[in-house]
Amino acid sequence: MVSAVVCQETQSARDFLRSLREEIQCHPGVGHSLLGRMLTDPRTRHDFKILASQHYPLVANFTTYMELLLLRAPSSEAKRWLAKVLVDEYGERSHGDDHAASYRAFMHAAGIAPGSEASYPLHPEVVGFIREHYRICTQEPFLVGLGAVGPGHEWSIPTMFEHVMTGLRKAGFAADDMTYWAMHLDQDADHGAWLEEALVAFCETPEAREQIRRGALLSLKAREQFWWGVLDKISSERTKAMLPGVAPATAGAEDTQPTYADLRQGLEIRVDLGAVSDIL
Ligand SMILES: [Fe+2]
Ligand SMILES: [Fe+2]
Repeated sequence: MVSAVVCQETQSARDFLRSLREEIQCHPGVGHSLLGRMLTDPRTRHDFKILASQHYPLVANFTTYMELLLLRAPSSEAKRWLAKVLVDEYGERSHGDDHAASYRAFMHAAGIAPGSEASYPLHPEVVGFIREHYRICTQEPFLVGLGAVGPGHEWSIPTMFEHVMTGLRKAGFAADDMTYWAMHLDQDADHGAWLEEALVAFCETPEAREQIRRGALLSLKAREQFWWGVLDKISSERTKAMLPGVAPATAGAEDTQPTYADLRQGLEIRVDLGAVSDIL
């Protein structure tokens, strides 16, 4: 029989998770104007090519954040959710194609030549997103990392991707081109549900809840900045196309921006596994 105290704690954990979900849904990183205005301010195929060139590094690094966090997880219970999601990321439910490969298929449909996916100059906010997530997953407490890759991603992606798919349909992409986006509506709904069950056990104390919420909000703050970066790239390309001969304010900025290939090459990551007493 479950005691009244345990029921109360579980209830209160569920209340916390419900309010966190609501907070995430209302966050400007999830409802950014670039996403929410796909019908009123439609985007072209070329705009999506730019979006894809900037978004690819986020897709390609996501599993590494989770693998690093897996190394630091304090118990097998904590590892279980991460491992289940990773198996999907490696292609379990996408015909053996990992999610980065599936994203590359979308990039090719958007006009990016196969083999050139990692050679686009990245906006500083794209680089900032990736560096911030490596920092969170290696230097912050484990639950802050779990908040970032857990609620910060799984509970926000279905809403963001619904908006993107609205824009892709409007721009004339076929259903086959949108496989990466569509599969996340289903898979992340599952990941989010598994996550909720896992988090109930982890958010028993106010300190633990604060860490999970902080991780989610750090991730979404970086996400909001990421979308501003993508919009900045799209706007400067439009200015160039509409006003030939007029240099946009950002002219020359790309000369010094790293590509994803440069960024990955220069990444050095240190992981502190913690004391043995933390896992006993
Ligand atoms: Fe994914
Ligand atoms: Fe997911």
